[in-house]
Amino acid sequence: MALTPTRQRLLQLLADGEFHSGVELGEVLGTSRTAVWKALAGLDDLGLTIERVPRRGYRIPGGIDLHDVEAIRAALSASARALLDDLRVLAVVDSTNEALKATAGLLPGRGACCLAEWQTGGRGRLGRRWISPFASNLYLSVAWDFDGGIAVLEGLSLAVGVAVRRALLRLGVAGVQLKWPNDLLRDRAKLGGILVEVTGDPEGRCRAIVGIGINVAMPAAAAGAIGQPWRDLSDLGVRRDALAAAVLDQLLPLLREFPDRGFGGYRDEWEAAHVHGGRRVVISAGNQRVEGIARGVNERGALGLECAEGLRWFSGGEVSLREQG
Ligand code: BTN
Repeated sequence: MALTPTRQRLLQLLADGEFHSGVELGEVLGTSRTAVWKALAGLDDLGLTIERVPRRGYRIPGGIDLHDVEAIRAALSASARALLDDLRVLAVVDSTNEALKATAGLLPGRGACCLAEWQTGGRGRLGRRWISPFASNLYLSVAWDFDGGIAVLEGLSLAVGVAVRRALLRLGVAGVQLKWPNDLLRDRAKLGGILVEVTGDPEGRCRAIVGIGINVAMPAAAAGAIGQPWRDLSDLGVRRDALAAAVLDQLLPLLREFPDRGFGGYRDEWEAAHVHGGRRVVISAGNQRVEGIARGVNERGALGLECAEGLRWFSGGEVSLREQG
């Protein structure tokens, strides 16, 4: 579903959570009160509650935290801004990762970033859905071109976890832990996830599309569809624009440095945040199920599992992990 310019403007007006009369909205939008009413009715599709009180007008209780692309740009460090070729916020998209696949002609050593208010087909790892309600969480993807093929990208998604954790810490979100291979946890429940997709020449120039989803203020109505324990940042009042800028500040330099540093440069920091180090876990890959004690990760981002046959190494891909007991 596309968001018409009238609806977008209406949302911007109502984002403050205050009452706005039908007359005021009609005047600002340059439309009749009937047209305003119709546009308001259409906002239900976004999962928003519009409250109407006679003689006071309309409001969205609690307001909404819409992205502002210029505010994100202004909050970026100068060095991150210099690494960004394009920054856009889409109101609605199937998936921000998908949106970047078609981006042509990235400048060497620079990335393109796409954010969305709402993903209608947000994707997680292992073909899962990523629940992406309107203006609630962070849905951010960055495309970056690499020479040297996919071999250069080994361990990238784990290194991105380190970058996102640093960004959260900068905003005062302490204690975030990392679950192999790509999850961010808060209080041992899922706060966010990373999905890296690769296009292009597997042995030459390829493009990594790094997709990051972080639960910021998950609405109760959407939370029912999440099939696992989850957590958000609503108790800390983190703003989505500030989070987007903090993530880009950490992520863009990482993408520039990654071909030289590899995952080895981030490994110790990853290990320090590893939620399952020394714990009994089960790794599932297709029909295979292996139990053991999770040990460290190696320079390539593979996880060592001490199991009946000795130490076995698993790399991300189609593998999932859960704690036993
Ligand atoms: C996971 O934990 O399974 C990975 C989730 C990744 C979600 C993000 S949201 C932005 C980007 N667009 C998508 O469709 N997925 C990623």
